Amino acid sequence: MPAAVLVGAQWGDEGKGKATDLLGGDVDYVVRYQGGNNAGHTVVIGDQKYALHLLPTGILSPEVVPVIGNGVVIDPGVLLSEIDGLAARGISAERLLISSNAHLIMPHHKALDKVTERYLGKARIGTTGRGIGPAYGDKIARMGVRVQDLLDPGILAKKIEVALTEKNQVLTKVYNRRGIEPERVLEEYLGYAERLKPHIADTSLVLAKALDEDKFVLLEGGQGTLLDIDHGTYPFVTSSSPTSGGACAGAGIPPNRLTKIIGILKAYTTRVGSGPFPTELTDDMGEWLRQTGGEYGVTTGRNRRCGWFDAVISRYATRINGITDYFLTKLDVLSGLERIPVCVAYEVDGVRHDEIPMTQTDFHHAKPIYEELPGWREDITGAKDFEDLPPNAQAYVRALEEMSGAPISAIGVGPGRDQTVVVRPLV
Ligand code: GDP
Ligand code: IMO
Ligand code: MG
Repeated sequence: MPAAVLVGAQWGDEGKGKATDLLGGDVDYVVRYQGGNNAGHTVVIGDQKYALHLLPTGILSPEVVPVIGNGVVIDPGVLLSEIDGLAARGISAERLLISSNAHLIMPHHKALDKVTERYLGKARIGTTGRGIGPAYGDKIARMGVRVQDLLDPGILAKKIEVALTEKNQVLTKVYNRRGIEPERVLEEYLGYAERLKPHIADTSLVLAKALDEDKFVLLEGGQGTLLDIDHGTYPFVTSSSPTSGGACAGAGIPPNRLTKIIGILKAYTTRVGSGPFPTELTDDMGEWLRQTGGEYGVTTGRNRRCGWFDAVISRYATRINGITDYFLTKLDVLSGLERIPVCVAYEVDGVRHDEIPMTQTDFHHAKPIYEELPGWREDITGAKDFEDLPPNAQAYVRALEEMSGAPISAIGVGPGRDQTVVVRPLV
């Protein structure tokens, strides 16, 4: 049976949590394949709101097996408090599987994330401060501590010792911070090991068997295409590969298992942290979008930067990910606007660009070329079918579909699970 990937098409916070949750009833496994607790995925079920950071959204669907894949970086303390928080609300994480190959976020990663950002000053990336970049840095440098190391106290002690011998030099001598005691870290992490042990598995093998048994596997990305370490707005990106190519590596399943690549696309654009954002609105209109769309970070509480829809970005996301279907979210937020500008291309130093400019220097100077589409006044939050949408809202969706180069198969008209217009089945 097939696997599907669900990937953010912009700079994150497109509504991946809601989209994953919606598919929860139709799939058997939901796998997070990269990122860590920099993510914040919101799900609204009835009057209950859940904010998930490390746990796959499938945790909220009783029949689904939630999996944290090898490509994720795990802060075990955060994971356990998330599990406890859900348990207090009657949701069990008993089924959760955690890849033995996933890497652990260690205390020095969090310390280094914060001091390096401070050191960068105005040039800072605006990270979530969760230790993501330093943890992936150690993974690539082959100095990381993995989930499986929790199963061998001797190895764990050695790895912590080796890592801190170097990192304490950096913390104390470069950044003038206090060093971290290896013994305390070992004790803390051995405590986590006790609780996490029953969940640790060879998740790649589990998923291969599941696919052979005709089960449906949904891979849930964190962040988004433009935050990808290779294909995003480097260096203003995260340190992993949210794009569909990264999904296979991060879950340990082969690319030929993927049959659907679902892009989550917001009807306008937002971004948190620093970096280029051609359609950003720094005026009252931007504030209106922020307030109407509730664009405040789920993880850090920061104001999200807001702007108009950018079709150059969505075309790029279609190409990089091989999007087969789009889930367009937050269309309801645009109700009430007279006209809605959509960026169709950029102008850089007098030259029109239909694609993202090759260099970051040019991208930083890109000015949006807008086309204005007529708006609609009606409240669309109760729409069930495409035909329920006002003609101008239908035309807006059709225009975005045309510009983005992939079919829009579902449309979000509100945060709730049932506030979705399904044009054609996603899985
Ligand atoms: P994620 O990180 O991609 O999962 O997205 P976030 O949860 O960070 O941000 C998306 C926000 O939009 C959340 O507050 C969702 O509840 C909300 N949301 C998702 N889809 C829709 C929609 O179609 N309409 C409205 N009004 N809100 C939505
Ligand atoms: P979800 O999964 C939006 C951004 C940060 C910063 C950059 C690097 O909810 O869409 P990091 O802590 O990853 O090193 O920060 O990436 N960022 C996100 N922005 N949504 C996210 O996740 C994000 N995760 C990281 O704001 O600009
Ligand atoms: Mg989010």
